[in-house]
Amino acid sequence: RILILDFGSQVTQLIARRVREAGVYCEIFPFNVDPARIREFGPKAIILSGGPASPAEEGSPRAPQLVFDMGVPLLGICYGQMTMAAQLGGTVESGHHREFGRALLDVKAPSGLFDGVWAPGEKHTVWMSHGDRITQLPPGFKVKGVSQNAPYALIEDEGRHYYGLMFHPEVVHTPDGAKLIHNFVLNVAGCKGDWTMAAFRQQAVEAIRKQVGAGRVICGLSGGVDSSVAAILIHEAIGDQLTCVFVDHGLMRLNEAEEVVTMFRDHYNIPLVHVDASDTFIGALEGQSDPEVKRKTIGKLFIDVFEAEAKKIGGADFLAQGTLYPDVIESVSFTGGPSVTIKSHHNVGGLPARMNMKLVEPLRELFKDEVRALGRELGLPDRFVGRHPFPGPGLAIRCPGGVTREKLDILRQADAVYLDEIRKAGLYDAIWQAFAVLLPVQTVGVMGDGRTYEFVCALRAVTSVDGMTADFYHFDMEFLSRAATRIINEVKGVNRVTYDITSKPPGTIEWE
Ligand code: XMP
Repeated sequence: RILILDFGSQVTQLIARRVREAGVYCEIFPFNVDPARIREFGPKAIILSGGPASPAEEGSPRAPQLVFDMGVPLLGICYGQMTMAAQLGGTVESGHHREFGRALLDVKAPSGLFDGVWAPGEKHTVWMSHGDRITQLPPGFKVKGVSQNAPYALIEDEGRHYYGLMFHPEVVHTPDGAKLIHNFVLNVAGCKGDWTMAAFRQQAVEAIRKQVGAGRVICGLSGGVDSSVAAILIHEAIGDQLTCVFVDHGLMRLNEAEEVVTMFRDHYNIPLVHVDASDTFIGALEGQSDPEVKRKTIGKLFIDVFEAEAKKIGGADFLAQGTLYPDVIESVSFTGGPSVTIKSHHNVGGLPARMNMKLVEPLRELFKDEVRALGRELGLPDRFVGRHPFPGPGLAIRCPGGVTREKLDILRQADAVYLDEIRKAGLYDAIWQAFAVLLPVQTVGVMGDGRTYEFVCALRAVTSVDGMTADFYHFDMEFLSRAATRIINEVKGVNRVTYDITSKPPGTIEWE
């Protein structure tokens, strides 16, 4: 296993992704973690991430001394390289040429890090992002690669197997970067690369059995991939000690609720309580047009309904949740002070304490695409596993203003047509999220010989890595025209379609 020490880079999670792609398990700890935890974790090698601080400044973050005392290989990336150099007796200065974006790395001498990938004399594209740089190497280090503005772009201490990179191997803009990380964890650190989803499935099943014993588990299904995969895995481990409760708020996409119920009951034979609470939810939303009020109304009702159902089935000792690794990483934040709430996310965080239940979270160590791989391993259909993310409050936040059954129906139809066109064009997997929004605006149109006065439908599609930032998807006009024509022809209640070309920031992905 590999440890990644986080110095606050935006892309630390990508390092973990690359390591796991090599079939090696890894975890991310903040740089100031208690060294005892590092010792306990027992990594075969450690990666020091980049970060926003300036290593030349006094009081800037440092790696715990233990990291250098453990005798394991080290890979310092950007800030990680510089703090490594500074802590081992080198010098780092700020105020040199800044280097951002694409740069050419001139390979000077062979290295275990790029063995079989790069050779001396070659030049390769790498992605830089730094203001400071090393001006004097620590004892034992040699230069293996240079770039125009970074004479120490790639350095190595051959004896200790310490490597330092001024560029970011974890981003796709460094085309060979993943290969370097694979070399580091497999060849340099000597990890086996046998961490697969099949192995994870087996370990997870045993861990669930051990944790739960003869206890009873309840799992709230949302219809999404995470809670479904968690439930199927837990069922594999403890069978009918698990009860799934699907609170159907009536805000799902077309046919989605039925699909989930059929899949669980018929395909997996998992006991499922299907609570049709759509009247309650839509009733409570009536007359509410403030986005935060809508979100909070749905979140609170969800907990109420779930709790009532849990009581009906006689309670449970454990609550199962599809929590993912990105939610549990203790990220290093340099923003200082509490961040503003942009949107109240729908979650059931308060439930376990309220109902006196312990948590079972078998996906806590996985990234989203690993959950998808696990889902496939468990036999879930590709079409389900590869679904775009869908927000907890559902279509309510895609109906700006007041929500009614009629509007939800129109939206569901338009959304289905739009997604059908996207699938037909083979674009579904290239897009992070695509959906229709029904605007609370009616406009005048003409159809046949008659005047129409109907709603406007906005289409949204974005690309993103983690939902934190996003760009609108650049469809060609032919596609948009086809989708718009079909929606207006097939969906009664819509007579105008627009396409949303806002990125995030300044927009958000959802409209509310
Ligand atoms: P925004 O709109 O904030 O969305 O740019 C970022 C991502 O989060 C999803 N989203 C939610 N997911 N509960 C969720 O589980 C929520 O309340 C919620 N609100 C937004 C959104 O669909 C996008 O993928």
